[in-house]
Amino acid sequence: MQNIMVTGGAGFIGSNFARMMLEKYPDYRILVYDKMTYAGNPDNLLDIQDNPRFSFVKGDIADQARVDETVKAYGIDTIVNFAAESHVDRSIDEPGGFIQTDVYGVYVLLEAARKFGLERMLQVSTDEVYGAVLEGSSKETDLLEPRSPYSASKAGGELLAQAYYVTYGTPTLVTRGSNTYGPYQYPEKMLPLFITNAIEDKPVPMYGDGKYVRDWMHVLDHCSGIDLVLQKGEPGQIYNVGGGNERENIDVTYQVLELLGKPRTLINYVQDRPGHDRRYSVDTARIRALGWLPQKSFEDGLAETVQWYTGNRWWWEKIKSGEFADYYARMYEQRKVLAKHE
Ligand code: NAD
Ligand code: TYD
Repeated sequence: MQNIMVTGGAGFIGSNFARMMLEKYPDYRILVYDKMTYAGNPDNLLDIQDNPRFSFVKGDIADQARVDETVKAYGIDTIVNFAAESHVDRSIDEPGGFIQTDVYGVYVLLEAARKFGLERMLQVSTDEVYGAVLEGSSKETDLLEPRSPYSASKAGGELLAQAYYVTYGTPTLVTRGSNTYGPYQYPEKMLPLFITNAIEDKPVPMYGDGKYVRDWMHVLDHCSGIDLVLQKGEPGQIYNVGGGNERENIDVTYQVLELLGKPRTLINYVQDRPGHDRRYSVDTARIRALGWLPQKSFEDGLAETVQWYTGNRWWWEKIKSGEFADYYARMYEQRKVLAKHE
């Protein structure tokens, strides 16, 4: 394994992964292959773009000819697929693009992996495929009950990866990561949205009662989990990756406001997301048995992340004034404010 194609590597987790792999393995070459949707951002790769072991190709994972040509041209032996439409609210608005990228696109990558006899194809999936988990923690063997167009399409993609292993012996691996946070996350997701809104003294839109639970994981812990599975995982297997930091949204928001010295009155309770999953929780015994442990405590990771957005306004102000402004207006103007925090 030496020539890794990181699909979706211009997005949040993929760009952090590309940077980490270049630093960690001096003999690896990293090719980022990305369609550059609204979420793909050249600024995420600025500090590695001149590295001689880094290359970039603009392309769609659903375009078989372009994927094949790229795999051949760069002598790719491994694919790690981060490319996806990734935001639940957008999937509720327009599901079609999710099925095209998160299901059909994965099929195209699997075909390339099969045809060119790649050493590994790792599909980055999500704990959302389990659906809402009211009690206990999901094991890899649990039933999949995805409930949003996003999670259903992610489930479709990873089931194809598993089917390729069984049917053709393609060495696929699947990781199911929990909610991830850190630098370079597009500010549509809760944490970067709330942090950047609060920096600007704008209201933060809390869905429903704010008592929804997510298991937060720092992006570098997520990336090290994916790398470990790539190196030591058993082909055909699935690995949960979770930070072990279950928190209610409202408590995370209090922490953010506290770190920024902003008042709780910025919180607006707004109309809930349809089909909003109450809680996610993963059992991580399987990946821990491979030797993985998250390194970053939530408190340190959150403080560093708040600091990063505070110190890198150039990065998010550009985004928030572009396509995002239309999205925000469309998505949030229709959400009535039901109550304001005291
Ligand atoms: P992101 O939205 O920040 O980035 C997605 C990237 O994929 C962008 O660079 C985009 O341009 C690219 N892309 C989209 N469609 C493409 C296509 N058809 N062809 C090529 N590139 C395409 O997403 P993220 O938060 O970095 O998530 C990365 C992966 O991790 C996704 O597969 C997501 O499902 C999974 N995941 C995310 C989280 C999380 O909390 N963010 C948690 C678990 C799993
Ligand atoms: P999000 O970051 O969209 O991730 P996911 O839906 O994949 O878990 O949302 C995290 C939690 O925050 C989720 O419970 C929904 C909630 N949320 C809000 O309350 N307000 C918002 O504006 C957003 C985007 C999310």
